[in-house]
Amino acid sequence: MLTVRAPATSANLGSGFDVFGVALSRPADIVRVSKADETTIEVTGTGSEYIPEDPEKNTVGAVAEALDAPAHIEIDKGIRPASGLGSSAASAAAAAVGLRDLYDRDYTREELVPIAAEGEAVVSGEAHADNVAPSILGGFTVATPDGITQVDTSIPLVACLPETVVSTRDARRVVPDRVDMNDVVETVGNAASLTVGMCRGDPELVGRGMADPMVTPARAELIDGYDAVCLAAREAGATGVTVSGAGPTVIAACRAGDRRAIGSAMLDAFAEADITARAFRTRVG
Ligand code: HSE
Repeated sequence: MLTVRAPATSANLGSGFDVFGVALSRPADIVRVSKADETTIEVTGTGSEYIPEDPEKNTVGAVAEALDAPAHIEIDKGIRPASGLGSSAASAAAAAVGLRDLYDRDYTREELVPIAAEGEAVVSGEAHADNVAPSILGGFTVATPDGITQVDTSIPLVACLPETVVSTRDARRVVPDRVDMNDVVETVGNAASLTVGMCRGDPELVGRGMADPMVTPARAELIDGYDAVCLAAREAGATGVTVSGAGPTVIAACRAGDRRAIGSAMLDAFAEADITARAFRTRVG
């Protein structure tokens, strides 16, 4: 039996819609794989009651099929589904790495990214690499149709997950079909700043580069309490705040010493809106 830990991830980071992603030091899924004649799946942990164990309907079943690696796969969910923290991507990423090693398949980690992305498409309907890439490679990733660029870095973050649910399908439906050229120019500048900030390990630049006038405003409307939570995080020292993935997690960049105060402020702001939430003091890892 082989055990793999796959980290939660945060995609988009505001200005990098469908392109940027980061691995988070916590939370994570744990996946155990053992050889079998046919693939069977067992899911435990947070939100497991919402995850199908049928290999045809589960991300890891598609990964096992693609690698021709039948196995008994135990998934211990540390990442709640529909959280905006790459829950299904983490299971797909862990299964891809675990099954490769179990069956000694000749794939690099980079080559596993599209395989895990196809697995994720089983549940999300579309294959995006912006969550599976950082879950497999770690650090900050830039996923484009031509491939993945990865940078190891360490930026402190607070990920605040409310008990509410936003489905990725709904969050994609509100993405505008057309955008204003001024907003494009602003977003390109922010994305470039964020990338430089990741390379330099600079939380100020990363936070500033999270600003996004194109996609985030429409998605923020799906998250009750979003504006108040962002304001509270900024007042507590966050350098930037945005929607994590498709939401409803709200993610803040900051300096390491500010994480506790920012987490408390975000939780209080959600509580003001009668929403119970959980704050993960984490970092790009
Ligand atoms: N980039 C994707 C989105 C991540 O924001 O819709 C969620 O799959």
